Amino acid sequence: AEARDYQAEDAAITGGVAESNHLGYTGTGFVNYDNTTGSAVEFTVPAAAAGPANVVLRFANGTTTNRPMDISVNGTKVASGVTFGGTGNWDTWQTVTVPVSLAAGTNKIKATATTANGGPNLDKITV
Ligand code: GCU
Ligand code: CA
Ligand code: CA
Repeated sequence: AEARDYQAEDAAITGGVAESNHLGYTGTGFVNYDNTTGSAVEFTVPAAAAGPANVVLRFANGTTTNRPMDISVNGTKVASGVTFGGTGNWDTWQTVTVPVSLAAGTNKIKATATTANGGPNLDKITV
């Protein structure tokens, strides 16, 4: 099926805040993860049928330090410590793609920070 956008600022945020004080986001803003381990954003993604999909995460990291995150689907970790490296500044966005398997029906896709620096700023995912 055609890929769709799911805005981080509209998702379920655990340890973070929706903001819009940097340039270049889509939708109405982005999520500024709290700079703590375990801060997370969970997206609800419907799928008509079970099968493989790519999750494209659009992020900014204005530091020079990786902000790794684990990616889980329906409660199962499917990618550990995915790299969200520096993008040059907080107005510059890049994407990282994580291949996953989706279930038919409603899927919960969660991106959880694994270091005390928290996650990057997250604009959206495309699935
Ligand atoms: C700055 C920036 C935030 C970012 C934060 C961080 O405060 O304005 O958008 O989230 O750094 O280091 O995580
Ligand atoms: Ca932050
Ligand atoms: Ca957004």
